Amino acid sequence: MPYYPLYPFTARLAGARVRHYRIDLDTLQVDLDSLAEAMSERTRIVVVNSPGNPLGNVIDPATFRRIDEIVGGRAVVIADEIYNNVHFDDEPYSAVTLADEMTSPLVVTNAFSKAHRMYARRVGYAIVPDELVHPLTVIQHHTLLTTDPVPQFGAIAALDHQEGVRELTGRYGARRDYTLERFGEVSAVRAVPARGSFYLTLDCAEYLRRHDIPGSLALAERIMRATRVATVPGSDFGLPDTLRLSYTSARYEEGIDRLAELLHRCPSGRCGRRRRHRATRLRNRPWRRRYRWPTPSAWTTCAGSARDVPPSRRSASCATPAPGAGGPAG
Ligand SMILES: Cc1ncc(COP(=O)(O)O)c(C=O)c1O
Repeated sequence: MPYYPLYPFTARLAGARVRHYRIDLDTLQVDLDSLAEAMSERTRIVVVNSPGNPLGNVIDPATFRRIDEIVGGRAVVIADEIYNNVHFDDEPYSAVTLADEMTSPLVVTNAFSKAHRMYARRVGYAIVPDELVHPLTVIQHHTLLTTDPVPQFGAIAALDHQEGVRELTGRYGARRDYTLERFGEVSAVRAVPARGSFYLTLDCAEYLRRHDIPGSLALAERIMRATRVATVPGSDFGLPDTLRLSYTSARYEEGIDRLAELLHRCPSGRCGRRRRHRATRLRNRPWRRRYRWPTPSAWTTCAGSARDVPPSRRSASCATPAPGAGGPAG
């Protein structure tokens, strides 16, 4: 936990029982005790993903060796390295370099979709032990058959453009830094300092509690309505108190400004005067003018628009306003 949803769902489709290990949200390290607890005699596959989606956590070689020790040859380790070209702080390495010293069979998966921006082109690959080549070939023949040769040649050409990957990583790293800086000012939300991939998780547990919001989906919807910024509810990844951001938008910084502005609002519940004041300032911002927000009367009142807040909660929401219930600044 958290996980990239494809894994639990495909495992369930195959009739497997899924057990989770944890990744610590403070240290971003795999909780090895939870991995040991989750292992059983019936465990067949252990999936690790580094850099990870959604946390951007990185598993270093020493931790990878510890994971192998815990698995102890009882299961195949699948290392999903699809974000391997996007490390901000660490020297990239592939688990394949450790394969010879591992006790467990290792499968490394990767694709051209992320660092080479070949999204949806379906060019991926797996590095597998010899004994898996034949069974995987049979499955491939009877399911996907082959990948379109045009993107395959595109992938070969992409390998000659590593400078593009480096440039992209630099840009994403700068966006990570910008997010951490902006959310440093937001008391009820913690930006988890990602070390790679192109996602960053916002820990919103405190914000959800203070504002009595039922979960990340409700929060993502309110944010979307108020700021037109799309975030992904962490519930999709097994972390219902979080939101996942993606650095890939060309207007990323602008989106972060809007988001930080919204989530910064009224953290202490003393909202009346400051909220109106902030609304006046925000009305003059260029990005605000491009959108039609709910009527000013809705967002200059404390409670947000009548549409969003049930009558029974309107006065209560003055102390703990529903975020975004009434627009960008309300
Ligand atoms: C961790 C992880 N693995 C695999 C994939 C699949 O990538 P694709 O099918 O786009 O090549 C994704 C896509 O988001 C991912 O986040």
